[in-house]
Amino acid sequence: MQFFLDTANLELIKKYVPWGVVDGVTTNPSLIAKEGVSHEDRIKEIAKVVNGPISAEVIATDYQGMVDEGRRLAKWHKNVYVKLPTTEAGIKALNTLKKDGIRVNMTLVFSTSQALLLAKSKADLISPFVGRLDDISEDGMSLISEIMDVWNQYDFDTKVLVASIRHPRHVIDAAKMGAHVATMPPEVLEKMIKHPLTDSGLAKFLEDHKKSQSK
Ligand code: G3P
Repeated sequence: MQFFLDTANLELIKKYVPWGVVDGVTTNPSLIAKEGVSHEDRIKEIAKVVNGPISAEVIATDYQGMVDEGRRLAKWHKNVYVKLPTTEAGIKALNTLKKDGIRVNMTLVFSTSQALLLAKSKADLISPFVGRLDDISEDGMSLISEIMDVWNQYDFDTKVLVASIRHPRHVIDAAKMGAHVATMPPEVLEKMIKHPLTDSGLAKFLEDHKKSQSK
């Protein structure tokens, strides 16, 4: 399973790369806007730090606009995956960009029917959003479960990237279902390493060691 960081914050990316678990980065217009930096500069900076897929999302919503913008974004770095919304114009643009040899991550996936169409249209990655489904009292992980059931019947090249992750349980459930990638905010990655029994156990080991030294 691959782990991506879902952030455009360079300092946080630099903080977690030394853990050896960051396989890529996903960004979106909201995450870029939060940083107040140029989209192009930030994607290029991230690509210097992480040697793996870096998703950069288009702003255009019409077919030709997405194709033009996608071609421009793809030139920024060899590891750029162009992120397109899952709309009618988006799936057409996916088809065109794939013919150019550009890698594409289809975003804002909320149903298995969308996922299936995107696999047939040869998306490299699809991003079903689990947290946003939970937010409206649906079950985000049920969507991943159904998508993986379909994927297990065929030999699709398209990877399922679980997005809109809010907590470590989402990551664990995604792993149990065999999802290919989980993209998570840095705070979720941080929570994955923490356990209070690790902290209290270590404190006790050190205390006992100190006592034995003072005898
Ligand atoms: O980058 C796409 C996705 O992970 C966004 O997550 O938390 O804004 O629903 P969120």
